[in-house]
Amino acid sequence: MTSIIYPTTNLKQVEQLNIVKGEGIYVYDDAGNKYLEGLAGLWCAALGYGNEELIDAITEQLKTLSYSHMFGGRTHKVVIELADKLIEMLPIENGKVFFANSGSEANDSHMKMLRYYFNVTGEPQKHKIIALERAYHGVTLAASALTGLEVMHKHFSLPMDALGILRTDSPHYYRGRQDNESEREFVSRILNKLEELIVKEGPETIAAFIAEPVGGASGVVIPPDSYFPEVETLLTKYDIMMWSDEVICGFGRTGNDFGCQTMGFKPQLISLAKQLSSAYLPISASVIPDYMYEAMVEPSAEAGVFGHGYTYTGHPAACAAALKTLEIYQRDKLFDHAREVGVHMQQRLAEFADHPLVGEVRGRGLIAAVELVANKKTGESFESGAVGAYAKQAAQDNGLLIRAVAGNSIAFCPPLIITKEQIDEMIEKFDTALQQTLDHVTREGLLKS
Ligand SMILES: Cc1ncc(COP(=O)(O)O)c(C=O)c1O
Repeated sequence: MTSIIYPTTNLKQVEQLNIVKGEGIYVYDDAGNKYLEGLAGLWCAALGYGNEELIDAITEQLKTLSYSHMFGGRTHKVVIELADKLIEMLPIENGKVFFANSGSEANDSHMKMLRYYFNVTGEPQKHKIIALERAYHGVTLAASALTGLEVMHKHFSLPMDALGILRTDSPHYYRGRQDNESEREFVSRILNKLEELIVKEGPETIAAFIAEPVGGASGVVIPPDSYFPEVETLLTKYDIMMWSDEVICGFGRTGNDFGCQTMGFKPQLISLAKQLSSAYLPISASVIPDYMYEAMVEPSAEAGVFGHGYTYTGHPAACAAALKTLEIYQRDKLFDHAREVGVHMQQRLAEFADHPLVGEVRGRGLIAAVELVANKKTGESFESGAVGAYAKQAAQDNGLLIRAVAGNSIAFCPPLIITKEQIDEMIEKFDTALQQTLDHVTREGLLKS
């Protein structure tokens, strides 16, 4: 019996795979089996495994200054360089960066800073946050309340009302459309509902609207092109901040530097993690506009401190990992590479569109999903996520690690360094797994027509 509580795991099915080594885009298990990392770990290992430059940068930093905290205004060189570098790269002018260790903490910190800001600027009622159905924003108490997945809520009694979480439709046309609704009509309907929600709750009570530009764990949801620009117009009208959770989409993942650029909007708040350090060490960032920061300065002095911070905020080794990661992204033009090979991946995955099990193939850049359905004609879903789980296991047995998310959507999000040939290898392995899954559902009589 293990002494570990496994994260995001069916606790009756632990210790499924023991990974012992990683090299480039491949990992190896304790039996010597080789796997292509089709999801870059958990959407994060952008530069793959065993990158010597990154290992050297981290080692060097550990030798020079293995740790320094940042409380009471203490600072160090790499954290300053990293913040400056991020501000130079991000589509927010004059932003300010707060560092933490995980995407959940970045989102949690944003929620606290929003509350702080509106409290000290005389709008203490402006605390509510609008989040999407099926969104994934992490698992701290506040972040899991922002998350809109049933399984992350069940049995946890999350304080939704106290945190002021409001929920609006996921912009997923394939799943959310009604009858013969066109994409245009779909966007118009869900945005009307969003406006009704804002008016009903009172815009003066709503601080921000959070969304991933492309929803990852929600099933790789690609919103219609007009969705985000129209949401932005609505939020401007009601003076609500736009908050982009770029924990997956940031750093070249969707074919542009940041996901908000791919989806055509300009956020005031940005959350970053994962590819920020290519997963070599844990680090995340919450980016806010400078006017928000300026408003917090005087009140923090009155209170004594800005009372938020982690032991490992701006950890030197994590900052060194992130700085080197960003340097490699820029030097090797990896975002351009990701855009280019991303086109190839989307083309290859589109070949599955006619497969009897496939309802929708969707993606942008180097992130995509193939949604498996019980009835191809109507798009009816399978009753549980068991078919997706079967496909995931079949892929694993064929040497490919991928994940089934939001039921039966098979997600692809390989390291940014993947080549076209390796994409072809990934597609071949998935093709075999999909055929085995079709044989399985046919045998079990799970297909409907
Ligand atoms: C969009 C998004 N936000 C936040 C998080 C939470 O990040 P972490 O697991 O580092 O807390 C994730 C994790 O998958 C994510 O995908």
